[in-house]
Amino acid sequence: MEPMHIDLNDGNKIPQIGLGVWELDGEACYNSVREAIKTGYRHVDTAKVYGNEDAVGRAIADAIADGEITREDIFVTTKLWNDDQENVEQALDQSLQRLGMDYVDLYLLHWPCPQHGKYVAAWEEMIAAQQSGKARSIGVCNFYRDVLEEIIEKTGHTPSINQIEIHPAFSQPEQREDNAAKGIATEAWSPLGRGTNLSDPRIQKIANNHGVSAAQAIIRWHIQRGDVVIPRSSKPERVRENFQVWDFSLTPDEVTAIEAMDAADGRIGPDPLSFHVGTPKA
Ligand SMILES: NC(=O)c1ccc[n+]([C@@H]2O[C@H](COP(=O)([O-])OP(=O)(O)OC[C@H]3O[C@@H](n4cnc5c(N)ncnc54)[C@H](OP(=O)(O)O)[C@@H]3O)[C@@H](O)[C@H]2O)c1
Repeated sequence: MEPMHIDLNDGNKIPQIGLGVWELDGEACYNSVREAIKTGYRHVDTAKVYGNEDAVGRAIADAIADGEITREDIFVTTKLWNDDQENVEQALDQSLQRLGMDYVDLYLLHWPCPQHGKYVAAWEEMIAAQQSGKARSIGVCNFYRDVLEEIIEKTGHTPSINQIEIHPAFSQPEQREDNAAKGIATEAWSPLGRGTNLSDPRIQKIANNHGVSAAQAIIRWHIQRGDVVIPRSSKPERVRENFQVWDFSLTPDEVTAIEAMDAADGRIGPDPLSFHVGTPKA
């Protein structure tokens, strides 16, 4: 089966698998992006706060120079950091400068930071960024029902994507349903639970049924749920392995069995209700 795309509510398409690059610095980031493009990935997920937009941009520029892709072939996401919520235009311009690009495919508002009450104004500026052509699609990360409803109601503009923490131990059934009801695509961050889900015997058993690795079984689960998925690896063999998920399918029972791993204490990242690191001093 060919790698899939997901249709966004603004008419654009996003490749269903991307390479996440959080915590990959400098050469490690450059090497993973180069390996990913050679493997067939056409989507990279970075952010200002990861400090590696320049390495992502360099890897993509070199892949273009080597004739592996054109700029139009690759979907690049970056994100607005919390302390830039009042300076969206300037922050996006600086990200584009570091990436060496004149547009990104997707610009995401990284965290709502509800304590600071700036996210509606920031979303208005994100809409302007899309109208300027510097961001082809716009969306949010870590938004939940109340803040999603507020930005939609106050601006009349629905995000194309909500990128949220999703992995077998934290599968977010309610937020995925809420996103779908609003026409918002769901994108899964930390899709492998940062590696913590890989040794679970329930995952191992499903992986063994198909002769694949635990990571491949989990990535396939995300694909079959219809979410966008952005696994990260610093190791070339794992970058390749994580993309080899198109030639097998989990059974409906296996999908349900992974969903049953959802746990009340399964969250590994910050809670969006309280996280506000890097927000402007009020
Ligand atoms: N929007 C947000 O707020 C937000 C938050 C967190 C993350 N993200 C995005 O989501 C991306 C993915 O999440 P993540 O980086 O937190 O974690 P992840 O992709 O769930 O897991 C990455 C970890 O799994 C290991 N791994 C990867 N492939 C493997 C394989 N085939 N076999 C065994 N181990 C494997 C990696 O180690 P090695 O490097 O050693 O292979 C790394 O330690 C990020 O990179 C970032 O782009 C977004």
